[in-house]
Amino acid sequence: MIAHVLGARPNFVKAAPVIAALSDRQRRDGGPQHEQRVIHTGQHYDERMSDVFFRELGLPEPDVNLGVGSGSHAAQTAAIMIALEKEFIERSPELVIVYGDVTSTLAAALDAAKLHIPVAHVEAGLRSFDMTMPEEVNRRLVDQLSDLLFVTSPEAIGHLAAEGVDVGRVHFVGNPMIDTLLSHLDSFDTEAVRAAHGLPERYIVATLHRPANVDDPEIAAGLVKRLHEIADLADIVMPVHPRGRKVLTEAGLDDHPRVKLLEPLGYVDFIAAVRGSAAVVTDSGGVQEETTILGVPCLTVRPNTERPITITHGTNRLVTAEGLVPAVEQALASAAGRREVPPLWDGQAGPRIARIVEDRLDG
Ligand code: UD1
Ligand code: UDP
Repeated sequence: MIAHVLGARPNFVKAAPVIAALSDRQRRDGGPQHEQRVIHTGQHYDERMSDVFFRELGLPEPDVNLGVGSGSHAAQTAAIMIALEKEFIERSPELVIVYGDVTSTLAAALDAAKLHIPVAHVEAGLRSFDMTMPEEVNRRLVDQLSDLLFVTSPEAIGHLAAEGVDVGRVHFVGNPMIDTLLSHLDSFDTEAVRAAHGLPERYIVATLHRPANVDDPEIAAGLVKRLHEIADLADIVMPVHPRGRKVLTEAGLDDHPRVKLLEPLGYVDFIAAVRGSAAVVTDSGGVQEETTILGVPCLTVRPNTERPITITHGTNRLVTAEGLVPAVEQALASAAGRREVPPLWDGQAGPRIARIVEDRLDG
């Protein structure tokens, strides 16, 4: 049995094509040789942070939801590890597949490694080289614990080699998050989203949820001030991640007639909104990749990115809070920049991963 461990919003978007491709191969080859079990840790639990993705992306209902909920890093990691250990011991999976860089990813990889269950890491080798980010800690540790490392971008192979990972375990397969994007292109209805939220022809989508931007009230207030300046230029629509809701609202985010705050959007509506936007202001990892493919200018409010290919090939630019307003002005004034699709971001990452996983389990 193959166990997929999912916990947070970006996990769902990355896992959907891998689970679908494994199911397809097994249907085609005439039988469920390797049963799949979807384990939801419950790290994200709001309807709009979790259930909506299962419905929209055709993910199977989780076989089990560990229901760990929110907590400090230690509390959340420990709660996931205790519940998952029991699950792994009862079910003895042949392989545990983990996705991305969230707390659930690390907790699952640690449990599996200690129980001598092989781990496959989807989206291995990305590095921001910024150990103040919880995700960077998670990525480095998970990669050390993994037997199969699936990378989305060529430079990841070098990062892993530099950390002593056996490159024989590393497979450059493309980007499953882009598989999801490409397979839903016909579903994104920008006009419907515009009408539903009363958006004008030209608008900007903003998302912020990194601790470095939204946890400290002073830093958040600085960003709110910039967002208000941007809203003087163009309407902003902002689906607010629950992490920053309180601090951003208390900093007065809503106090501008051209800033429209929404609950987190489902995947289809969110990408439809991004696709029709004049620019995106974000600190999300996944959104940097999606805007690269959609050709929408992306201004990433961070000092670094673990996804440099979105800058070299895509529409992404790193900006400071101070640089944000001029960067938006520039993006609004110019047509979307020239872009090149990163290698293997072709919608086939899921099938490539499925083939390698099956070869590994059968061989
Ligand atoms: C997590 C990931 C981050 C990822 C993000 C995607 C870690 C360390 N961080 O950050 O890498 O970019 O998910 O969205 O795993 N909350 C709710 N409802 C929910 C989920 C969370 O209200 O359904 C609130 C809670 O107050 C919680 C806070 O958001 O304490 C933070 O949630 P958590 O899962 O700890 O981290 P994220 O900031 O969501
Ligand atoms: N996303 C979404 N609705 C939103 C905001 C984001 O569906 O309101 C999607 C986004 O398109 C991407 C994923 O959620 O596929 C990224 O998640 P997030 O930004 O929370 O995490 P990160 O990528 O930063 O880890």
